[in-house]
Amino acid sequence: MFLDILTYESPLTFERYMELCLYHPEHGYYARGNLPSKKGDYITSPCIHKVFGATISNQITEIYHLLGCSKDFTIVEAGAGQGFLAFDILEYLSKKNYNFNYFIIEPFSIIKSIQEKTLIQFRDRVKWFKDLKEIPKFKGVFLSNELFDSFPVKLIQKKDNKIKEIWLEIKKNKIIEILKDLEDETILERIAPFCSFWKEGYRTEVCVSIENFYKILSEKLEEGFIVTIDYGYPRPDYYSPERNKGTLLCYYKHKTIDNPYFKPGEIDITSHVDFTLLRELGEKYGFLNLGFTQQGAFLVSLGINEVFYEISERKWKDMEALKFLILPEGLGTSHWVLIQAKLKEKPDKELKGFSLSNRIYLLYTS
Ligand SMILES: C[S@@+](CC[C@H](N)C(=O)[O-])C[C@H]1O[C@@H](n2cnc3c(N)ncnc32)[C@H](O)[C@@H]1O
Repeated sequence: MFLDILTYESPLTFERYMELCLYHPEHGYYARGNLPSKKGDYITSPCIHKVFGATISNQITEIYHLLGCSKDFTIVEAGAGQGFLAFDILEYLSKKNYNFNYFIIEPFSIIKSIQEKTLIQFRDRVKWFKDLKEIPKFKGVFLSNELFDSFPVKLIQKKDNKIKEIWLEIKKNKIIEILKDLEDETILERIAPFCSFWKEGYRTEVCVSIENFYKILSEKLEEGFIVTIDYGYPRPDYYSPERNKGTLLCYYKHKTIDNPYFKPGEIDITSHVDFTLLRELGEKYGFLNLGFTQQGAFLVSLGINEVFYEISERKWKDMEALKFLILPEGLGTSHWVLIQAKLKEKPDKELKGFSLSNRIYLLYTS
């Protein structure tokens, strides 16, 4: 039983609890093959309509040209879900005579087999790796959609005017929260400009686990771009006094639940991405921070309307999907796109995806 495993590790940090709930090789939510879908617990842009991936392809081709049309140009995607984004990109690009290699980083074999079925048509061009560490050095683009929101986070709370970390004790099959002094200095550094404005009981998250991923990515990506699409905030918004319950959210059968201890291993646990952190990590590991904007503005800048007329049947359900991808009622403003790059020279003009809006300055204010 999963609770026995948790009991064995008790007391454990919330961060370790989240890691086990999502990634325990047998009982973890993702390890058991749970993925976003129309029937599952939640939905993501690639599940909504192929116009999402097709439109992103327009950014990828611009990047390909900026990198000098290298014959080694490779697209690398981590956490590729059902493989829909990969399929839609490869299909759209093939029609334009671009036949790029595509690497997928997928830790779980059950999910890999789902992706293999989706991508059967492109099996000669797609290669799978279990871990980012395993991929060869590459030139091209690293792409992710809703990857970083599923990285384990530290949970913290303000108590008696001090910041404490939340640990868990598992006793008689019950999960009990305990507050301990901080052990990790990076937590305080991250929240220092904000925490004096927080009221007693303020609770939020700090993601430390992304740094190692960026470090490895910087070793692997010799020249090229990182395209990150996810929900999140610039840091001052993330840690604003009114967001006093943090951003931790759980999904179960298309419902959001605010109790992360409900059905451990059976629910998805996520937190919003601190995009200022990604900007800082980019700088630390040698990337230029080129652009940041909301998903709707990004897709419209890339010509989603034209792509839509090119590839869809324009039925009512296609129109609804298009609106969902770009409007605030859907994912158009909750999701943001950040593009970073390791290049010999900074491009002399704005990337196409930011031609209508580039709000990278939001990641430099504190
Ligand atoms: C929220 S799902 C998103 C799936 C897909 N990108 C989509 O948009 O539908 C996050 C996925 O990222 C995967 N993941 C988390 N950490 C990862 C890592 N370090 N390397 C590769 N995949 C990872 C999880 O296993 C999960 O399948």
